[in-house]
Parts: sequence; C-alpha cells; structure tokens
Amino acid sequence: MTEVTLMTDAAAPAPTAKPHLPDAARVTSVTHWTDRLFSFRVERPRSLRFRSGEFVMIGLLGDNGKPLLRAYSIASPAWDEELEFYSIKVPDGPLTSRLQHIKVGDEIILRPKPVGTLVHDALLPGKRLWFLATGTGLAPFASLMREPETYEKYDQVIMMHTCREVAELEYGRQLVESLKDDPLIGELVGDKLLYYPTTTREAFPRMGRVTDNLSSGKVFADLGLPPMNRDEDRAMVCGSLAFNIDVKKILEGFGLTEGANSDPQQFVVEKAFVGDGI
Ligand SMILES: Cc1cc2nc3c(=O)[nH]c(=O)nc-3n(C[C@H](O)[C@H](O)[C@H](O)COP(=O)(O)OP(=O)(O)OC[C@H]3O[C@@H](n4cnc5c(N)ncnc54)[C@H](O)[C@@H]3O)c2cc1C
Ligand SMILES: NC(=O)c1ccc[n+]([C@@H]2O[C@H](COP(=O)([O-])OP(=O)(O)OC[C@H]3O[C@@H](n4cnc5c(N)ncnc54)[C@H](OP(=O)(O)O)[C@@H]3O)[C@@H](O)[C@H]2O)c1
Repeated sequence: MTEVTLMTDAAAPAPTAKPHLPDAARVTSVTHWTDRLFSFRVERPRSLRFRSGEFVMIGLLGDNGKPLLRAYSIASPAWDEELEFYSIKVPDGPLTSRLQHIKVGDEIILRPKPVGTLVHDALLPGKRLWFLATGTGLAPFASLMREPETYEKYDQVIMMHTCREVAELEYGRQLVESLKDDPLIGELVGDKLLYYPTTTREAFPRMGRVTDNLSSGKVFADLGLPPMNRDEDRAMVCGSLAFNIDVKKILEGFGLTEGANSDPQQFVVEKAFVGDGI
C-alpha cells in the first residue's frame, strides 16, 4: 500500500508544483541595491567550470513556455561554490521585468556554456591591470577582483567604475570593502587593489566619466601612477557600446592594442548590454 502511494506521488506531482526548468539553478539569495539594480546568487551546477570574467546565458521560462534567455556575466569568482549575478531592472525588459521579482528558493535557467573575452588568457603579461566599467559592466570585474590570478599576475589592479548616481556604486563599494577581510584572498589582494569610483550626475568626492579621467590624466595624478603605456599597462573594458568605443580610442592613444582569446594583446573589451542604452 505504501509502495503504491509513493509511486503515485512520483508519477503525478501535486497540481501546485512548479514545472521543473531545463538547466535549473536554485536561487539562494537576492539583494536589491536600488530600484534599477539587484544582485542574486544561485546554486552552482556541479559540472559548471568557467574562467573568472566569463558570461553565461540565464533566464526564465517565457509565457509561451520557451526559455527567455539573456547574456549575464558571472559576478562571482571561478572558485566560489555558488554563482552570483549583478543585474539591471529594465521596467519593460522582457527578462528583467520578471527576473527582478525572483525570491530565494525559485529556479532560473542557466545554460552551462560560459564564454567571453574578459579573461586573463586574453592579455599579455603586464605590471598593472585596469578594470574600466560603467553601470552593470562592473559584473565581470566583481568576479576578477575576487580571482587570485589577478593579484598573482599584476603588481597593481585599478578598478575604475562610473555610474550616474552614488547609490549605483554601492554593490561595487561593498564588494571592494569586503576583500580586505576575505579569508581566501584578502592577503593576496593586500594593497594591490586601487578602487576609483566616480559619479557623473550626483555630487561625490570623485566625479567624471572614465574617459575624461583617463584623457585628462586626473586618475594617474590622483593615484600616483604613470600615464598608461603599452609595456606595463593592461586593461579590460565593459560598458555600453558608446563607452567601449570611446575607451578603446583612448587606450589605443596610449599605444595599447586590442586582443582576444585567440590573440592576446594589451586590452580586451566586452559589451555590458546590447542596445543604444545611452
Ligand atoms: C556579454 C553580455 C553580458 C551581459 N551581462 C550582464 C550583466 O552581468 N548584468 C546585467 O544586468 N545585464 C547584462 N547584460 C545585458 C542582459 O543580457 C540583458 O540585456 C538585460 O538583462 C536586460 O534584459 P531584458 O530582457 O529585461 O531587456 P533587453 O530587451 O535585453 O534590453 C532592453 C534595453 O535595456 C537596456 N539595457 C539592457 N541591459 C542593460 C544593462 N545591463 N545596463 C543598462 N541598460 C541595459 C538597453 O538599452 C536595452 O536595449 C549582458 C549583455 C551582454 C551582451
Ligand atoms: N542611471 C539611471 O539613474 C537611469 C534611470 C532611468 C533610466 N535609465 C536608462 O537606463 C539606460 C542605462 O543607464 P545607465 O546609467 O545604466 O548607463 P549609461 O547611460 O551608460 O551611464 C552609466 C555611466 O556611464 C557614463 N557614460 C555613458 N556613456 C559614456 C561614454 N560614451 N563614455 C564615457 N562614459 C559614458 C555615464 O555618464 P553621463 O552621466 O555623463 O552620461 C554614466 O556615468 C539608459 O537608457 C538610461 O536612460 C538610467
């Protein structure tokens, strides 16, 4: 009798049970930073291997029953037991209008094929590594700032992050702050990481676009660093298309050349999102 009951339960789930998603990953925490930004963590599929800085496709089931997927940088480092994501909330965005409502215990779809250009293998060895980001373009660097290889390979690591408003910097600020006491990489980070957050539309101790602070030399003066040069400096760039284009011109002006996984050079670029968004 007991056996029959068990079999029935397994074959026919209770009508209230949610359909099981393909490539499902269960949400373990959600943090809302502003009305436009949130981060969340999910259980990491055991088989998922990735290099810090890469992105994957994640999403939810659409109303038509088909997966609605978008590219997302993995914001956690390759050694982490969970996966972290840092996300925009686009009010009428097909995915994020719904994704922003996920709760602990919910499932998302996670396609286990990580790819991307913001990886250490795509750069030639150097002395200083620059992470240049706007908005959610911080996400791949949230991973790389927690990656031991970053500090093993470079003497100094500079994180330039620019947002319109102060509150939009908070996820990055807390992450950088937490590194000092991190039992796994705190010692490696030491005083190698230089954090340079700026805003453009709200008063803040440091202000201005990444592009302007590089072109004017302000960031070099503020941090006591020499101007960028192709022998010592390496860079990874992640922002809107317009940002990426403008930064690329500036880096090339310093003599750096864009590289890729198949052709390591002095800098690499990845879009933080597709669309005109500027
Ligand atoms: C390689 C890659 C990595 C990405 N990684 C991330 C990530 O880590 N975090 C993240 O939030 N998004 C990331 N994106 C963007 C993401 O794929 C989606 O576009 C985003 O989740 C919005 O999805 P949506 O369906 O709600 O709206 P969509 O239809 O995809 O976008 C609608 C519009 O919203 C704007 N928009 C979309 N994403 C952003 C954004 N991140 N910041 C500012 N404006 C945006 C654009 O103008 C876009 O046209 C990445 C995109 C690419 C190509
Ligand atoms: N952030 C918000 O509060 C907000 C609110 C509602 C809607 N939105 C919409 O959401 C989308 C994305 O907004 P976002 O704030 O995440 O991204 P964003 O518009 O790309 O701005 C992020 C930061 O990047 C700077 N920036 C933009 N283009 C640049 C370039 N070519 N070179 C150097 N720096 C550049 C901006 O400076 P500037 O300030 O000088 O442009 C800002 O500090 C936009 O369509 C926007 O209209 C944003």
